[in-house]
Amino acid sequence: MTEHLISLSDLSESDILEILSLAEKLKDERKRGIFRDYLKNKSLAMIFELPSTRTRVSFEVAMSDMGGHALYLSWNDLQLGRGETVADTARVLSRYVSAIMARVRSHERVVELANSSDVPVINGLSNLEHPCQILADLLTIKEKKGLNVKLAWIGDGNNVCNSMILASAILGFEMSIATPRGFEPDESILKKAEDIGKKPEITSNPFEAVENADVIYTDVWASMGHESEREERLKVFREFQVNRDLVEKAEDDVIVMHCLPAHRGEEITDEIIDGRHSVVFDQAENRLHAQKAVLLRLIG
Ligand code: CP
Ligand code: NVA
Repeated sequence: MTEHLISLSDLSESDILEILSLAEKLKDERKRGIFRDYLKNKSLAMIFELPSTRTRVSFEVAMSDMGGHALYLSWNDLQLGRGETVADTARVLSRYVSAIMARVRSHERVVELANSSDVPVINGLSNLEHPCQILADLLTIKEKKGLNVKLAWIGDGNNVCNSMILASAILGFEMSIATPRGFEPDESILKKAEDIGKKPEITSNPFEAVENADVIYTDVWASMGHESEREERLKVFREFQVNRDLVEKAEDDVIVMHCLPAHRGEEITDEIIDGRHSVVFDQAENRLHAQKAVLLRLIG
């Protein structure tokens, strides 16, 4: 495993499988009330340039469950907000903490942090990728379906979609993506997936994408940083809602996933997110277990 986790493609197939096994073990221990100080005297700096519920809380609890400590650092409360460079910030934090997790607007910033840091850097979401989310999602898919699935991505070809494309290429599962024209996934990610050996199918017809799908995945139509395009996007994405009509076209035991937060009534209906196919809260819980495994692999 590489020193940092910036892109899902920093991980090999065996790295991912090992992280998932470790996450399963840690999840089982926690369910049985077993807490071990795997990360005693270790600390994690968590830099947030954008809001977060799951990433912030799951990383913080992960560190405290394992006997370590996490520091929540808002970008604007750090001297970063007054112009201190990302590189200098990385050098200084490396003198204090065991690892840095960062949620940034621009992917280059988390790359720059990693380039200047002497300790592991974890991407807690950028405009390009969300690798921690996908590790939790793979854990969820493994628990519910095994990893030999067809996954249909419906909606925006965004950061979460990009990391899932890389997971599909590395692990070799089928992925079919339905996006409105002009909202396809990032070209560099598609090229990377092709180089790894598996490109997803891309269509603009959501009904075609969900045919024979074991997993349907959707996310917001306007990610953080695209809020100003929201009204326009609501119109463009209208046909890409995950609703009863769409879910009925997939396998009867299809699971429906969403990384959350959801805009209920937009990309997904209440009926589906609260219905029998939905696994969204298991997914959210698995952020904790998967990230513990990542932390142990990087700084344990
Ligand atoms: N899914 C996810 O990363 O959620 P937060 O934005 O709440 O961290
Ligand atoms: N694609 C969403 C994911 C939020 C966890 C965003 O970037 O806002």
